[in-house]
Amino acid sequence: MRTLIKNGTVVTASEETLADVLVDGEKVAGLAAPDRHGWTADKVIDATGRLVVPGGLDVHTHMELPFGGTFASDSFETGTRAAAWGGSTTIIDFAVQAKGQNLMDGFEAWMGKAERNCAIDYGMHLIVGDVTDQSLKEMDIAMGEGVTSFKMFMAYPGVFYSTDGEIFRAMQVAAESGATIMMHAENGIAIDVLIAQALARGETDPIYHGVVRKSILEGEATHRAIALAELAGCPLYVVHMSAQEALAEVTNARDEGMDIFAETCPQYLFLDLDDLGNGFEGAKFVCSPPLRDRSEGHQEALWSGLATNDLQVVSTDHCPFCFNDHATLGRQKRLGEGDFSKIPNGLPGVEHRMELIYHGAVAEDRLSVKRWVEVCAATPAKMFGLYPQKGTVAVGSDADLVVFNPNAPHTLSASTHHMNTDYSCYEGLTLQGKVETVLSRGKTVIENDSYVGQKGDGKYLRRELNQYLT
Ligand code: URP
Ligand code: ZN
Ligand code: ZN
Repeated sequence: MRTLIKNGTVVTASEETLADVLVDGEKVAGLAAPDRHGWTADKVIDATGRLVVPGGLDVHTHMELPFGGTFASDSFETGTRAAAWGGSTTIIDFAVQAKGQNLMDGFEAWMGKAERNCAIDYGMHLIVGDVTDQSLKEMDIAMGEGVTSFKMFMAYPGVFYSTDGEIFRAMQVAAESGATIMMHAENGIAIDVLIAQALARGETDPIYHGVVRKSILEGEATHRAIALAELAGCPLYVVHMSAQEALAEVTNARDEGMDIFAETCPQYLFLDLDDLGNGFEGAKFVCSPPLRDRSEGHQEALWSGLATNDLQVVSTDHCPFCFNDHATLGRQKRLGEGDFSKIPNGLPGVEHRMELIYHGAVAEDRLSVKRWVEVCAATPAKMFGLYPQKGTVAVGSDADLVVFNPNAPHTLSASTHHMNTDYSCYEGLTLQGKVETVLSRGKTVIENDSYVGQKGDGKYLRRELNQYLT
């Protein structure tokens, strides 16, 4: 099967050119000026007035994550289909090692959930949830399966939390193998004290989730994670950054030449503490780290970090829960009625990353169109060992391609989105720019406002090491 995408503006992290793209089978087979080739194809897509960009990589998703007494409401099937609708053609999800389990048990379990269900290609990180001699050994076994990054938590005591000593031991193993440690950097011990004090004062509404999870405690944990990584000598990637104090720590470390990297997420660039208000409605916006106070300047700091490359990646941390009861999973956000600390943490977002960031970055004139592609596709691919197979439009790369209309409006709503949640964090927001056509390894999966792929189209991706290591 040969597909020709004609007359579009092809945008990669480094170039923006009017070109035709020839797809042969699963790969990009040719790139040429529209009048400089005689290519024929089985299918022709007219991309006049459109951008043709590499499919996005969302390197932080949680399909079916067990959390707070329930499970994230998107399965690998529904979540990857929603990702495709939004122009992401790769996800990297987090397999979970539960307490008392071996690390590889978590990997096998998540592979079982994903296999034959995904609409797009997928990789796995591993959450190291129980640091033991055995799980540290198994980090190297996981590397053999193409898992080259491991997430640890300084937050959520009693759930995913690891002590500094446990984190440091895992970092020492990562230093030997070159694996990247991904860190949820919030001081969960201090936060738990503040949670208990707030509840004792009768402060039970969702807004207090945002109040107690202080930005200074994200900054402090980021500082500590960087110090531990420096001592161990391993690469560190700070996930879902929300606070300017944390960004300052990463900026300083990078200025000193350390292998320290960070991502932020659309929710921290578009939403804020006020969204956590309005009584229990605010539960829709409960995630950790929390949405920050706009007047404190976090959002503008994060946008400027993306511009200066102190922040390198935008992922979603997609971890959806329904506001009202879910047909099979039962109570989700409502588990926290009367106690904000019991609201499952996480937001739906996998579908809207490319369009939200285009809108905030390019349409609102903060970043160039090439930088948009870089933070949403090229850098995540390099950071997690998938470049140039993914993250660019080049001869020999996977034909993961998005035809994007920069002039079409798109209004976001739970009534039209494809994520398995009964609300949208962006209800009624009209964005400039819309994903129109999506190819995943050469196969059209989204066209004419329809999903035309199949579950099981997506394949597991074995990943190399971080491609930015000095
Ligand atoms: O609130 C969040 N972020 N939920 C997902 C789990 C995590 O910490 O990434
Ligand atoms: Zn986290
Ligand atoms: Zn997460």
